[in-house]
Amino acid sequence: MQWVGYAELASAVSNAGGLGILTALTQPTPEDLRKEIRRCRTMTKNPFGVNLTLLPALVPPDYGAYAQVIIDEGINIVETAGNSPGPVIRQLKAANVIILHKCTTIRHAQSAVKLGVDFLSIDGFECAGHVGEHDITNFILLSKARQTLGVPFIASGGFADGQGLAAALSLGAEGINMGTRFMCTVEAPIHQKIKQAIVEAQETDTELVLRRWRNTTRLFGNKVAREAVQVERESKEGKFEEVAPFVSGKRGREVFLNGDKDYGVWTAGQVIGLIHDIPTCGELVARIEREAISTLSKAASLYVGQVPYSVGPVQGSGSGKDGKPATGAELWGVGKSKL
Ligand SMILES: Cc1cc2nc3c(=O)[nH]c(=O)nc-3n(C[C@H](O)[C@H](O)[C@H](O)COP(=O)(O)O)c2cc1C
Repeated sequence: MQWVGYAELASAVSNAGGLGILTALTQPTPEDLRKEIRRCRTMTKNPFGVNLTLLPALVPPDYGAYAQVIIDEGINIVETAGNSPGPVIRQLKAANVIILHKCTTIRHAQSAVKLGVDFLSIDGFECAGHVGEHDITNFILLSKARQTLGVPFIASGGFADGQGLAAALSLGAEGINMGTRFMCTVEAPIHQKIKQAIVEAQETDTELVLRRWRNTTRLFGNKVAREAVQVERESKEGKFEEVAPFVSGKRGREVFLNGDKDYGVWTAGQVIGLIHDIPTCGELVARIEREAISTLSKAASLYVGQVPYSVGPVQGSGSGKDGKPATGAELWGVGKSKL
């Protein structure tokens, strides 16, 4: 998370039992990333990862140099995201780094698998930041991932609680990735007023900008984001320069420091509507575990007696007796289930 994924948050998430992730490009140079990795190591004994996001830029950062620092510092897991990750993935894989690639379409996920990534983070349309251009929400995207990808994946976008984790596991994911929810924790190194703005926001309070340039991004729906959308919609010429002043990353960064939610644009997902408090990362992760266990137990308790079929090797399809496809009655345990 750009301007949020510092050592304070990454270490707190890892100390809570999650996998904290530092954002490489939040550090102005590869050498600054090296210092941040070392700083994070003093704050947690647990593993943490680094995110490397490859986005189109007039003067792109030296991704190879950032990747080299990650390798030299002995980071074992990298989350890659963005366009044309091939060269960076090859560089990291050559050093035996485990790669989690984040993407918003099955097509991109399949390309990443061909490039040799180890697992995927499937980011639904609900997510904060770059949502892609196809607007597929996680109910479809995760099941499609289960049906088509041969590698494990985690679910990203729209998760804030254990009910969400249980749903993701049910759809075939191995776990969840959370961005916006972790912004709203005690340890997140952003202004308290921004955390409060998230608590007060509804799921309808995000805006999609830059669709016209096929770089659609979900932002917190503040005054500047709404103005950006208006310029984007109403401009006859559709020149990026017209909207650029509104979406300045510099002003967005300031928001997290000065606490003025309307000072510039900043990233948040629809999940803001589900966030009602500012716990520590430890409290949050423990709560999510409790909720997921109770949700899955409740679902399991809807069956009484023996499950009348065995689950076959094809994940999610369910199979009936003698390896034949399950009938509807078998799947639902008709006659035995409380349903
Ligand atoms: C403030 C903020 C900054 C983000 N910056 C990045 C980034 O630099 N690179 C990236 O791959 N994803 C970025 N994301 C997206 C998250 O990594 C994650 O995919 C997303 O937050 C998941 O959706 P959720 O917010 O509903 O949990 C950012 C998200 C937030 C909230």
